[in-house]
Amino acid sequence: MKAYLLKKHGNPFVLKMEDAPDPIPIKNEVRVKLKHIGINYAEILSRKGLYGWAPQKPYIPGMEGFGEIDSIGDEVTKYKVGDNVIVGAQFGSYAEKMVIPEGQALKPFAHLTDIENSAIAINGLTAWIALMNLARLKKTDKVLIQAAGGGVGTMAVQIAKAFGNTVYGTAGSDKKLELLSQLGIDIGINYRKDDFANVIKSKTNNGVDVVLEMVGGDVYKKSVDLLNPFGRIMIMGFAGLDLKKWNPYSWYKTWNDLPKTKLSHLAENSYSVMASHLGYLLPNEKLLNSIWNDFSVFTNKHNLKPIVGHTFNFEDLPKAHELMESRNSQGKIVIAIF
Ligand SMILES: NC(=O)c1ccc[n+]([C@@H]2O[C@H](COP(=O)([O-])OP(=O)(O)OC[C@H]3O[C@@H](n4cnc5c(N)ncnc54)[C@H](OP(=O)(O)O)[C@@H]3O)[C@@H](O)[C@H]2O)c1
Repeated sequence: MKAYLLKKHGNPFVLKMEDAPDPIPIKNEVRVKLKHIGINYAEILSRKGLYGWAPQKPYIPGMEGFGEIDSIGDEVTKYKVGDNVIVGAQFGSYAEKMVIPEGQALKPFAHLTDIENSAIAINGLTAWIALMNLARLKKTDKVLIQAAGGGVGTMAVQIAKAFGNTVYGTAGSDKKLELLSQLGIDIGINYRKDDFANVIKSKTNNGVDVVLEMVGGDVYKKSVDLLNPFGRIMIMGFAGLDLKKWNPYSWYKTWNDLPKTKLSHLAENSYSVMASHLGYLLPNEKLLNSIWNDFSVFTNKHNLKPIVGHTFNFEDLPKAHELMESRNSQGKIVIAIF
């Protein structure tokens, strides 16, 4: 099969397509012939060598995809050859075929296209876990979503709007704000033009109750300051992380920009800081399937669809990384294999 093997860290073009042996499923594993794969920001970080839980090189990156099972281990009970599944994994989807335990193969959505089915698992689960499992959203909560025009952001906006919340979001271009207004956002802020905290303070009589934070640095600090009493801020990422291993100044800046909190500050302002990392949850098959079930019921009920902003051919996967890193992508980037 063809696959991208990460042999050294660096710019998008360290990713090179090459021949690799077809993986063989054993025991409870299924092999999925991938049709489409979704690109995630975490894969940019792992390509650069900045992702803590990435495996030792060389390895095939890629956390998700959609395809057809073409081979199964002898202990598989849930699926058969020919079934279509969504794959959520820690790595391995930048390939024509990948093997996963059957418990990590997720049921696709009937109302979504193949492309959309490849684009929903990681972003949808991240947004769902942040808003529902961590923040335990109430309909009366005012919700602020940072990086709202991206993959996780556009899913989070849709989930919170469908739940009935007032939703504010930030993005770095007017084009992304247009997309967010189509998704029904109440106030969208281009943070390159306006200070998001000032806009929220001036346009609302109040602060916000829930923040989905994925940037870090000043964005985190200003978001905390906007929280109402009993507010909750969910740290789901820090896209602003700018660690250059060879530059000690950047070590200090990175440390300073990582979200931090003090118990005394929490107590004085009555708010919670929470975090979750899907990479650690995916191998917990029972929990994963229970969360997927809740998310699926909600997604079907509200007819939610991931926003696929860009598609690339398999050979152009490095260009997809380049686009995501440029901060100009909107919604999800998908790679078509077949
Ligand atoms: N905890 C988890 O389990 C989990 C799972 C999936 C993703 N994540 C995290 O969620 C975030 C979004 O992931 P995604 O895959 O959906 O990516 P994405 O949002 O589609 O792309 C990243 C976006 O972040 C925004 N951003 C803001 N400040 C940035 C900065 N200083 N540098 C780079 N980008 C910046 C950019 O949009 P604007 O400039 O328009 O804001 C950029 O387009 C990432 O931080 C990712 O690591 C966490």
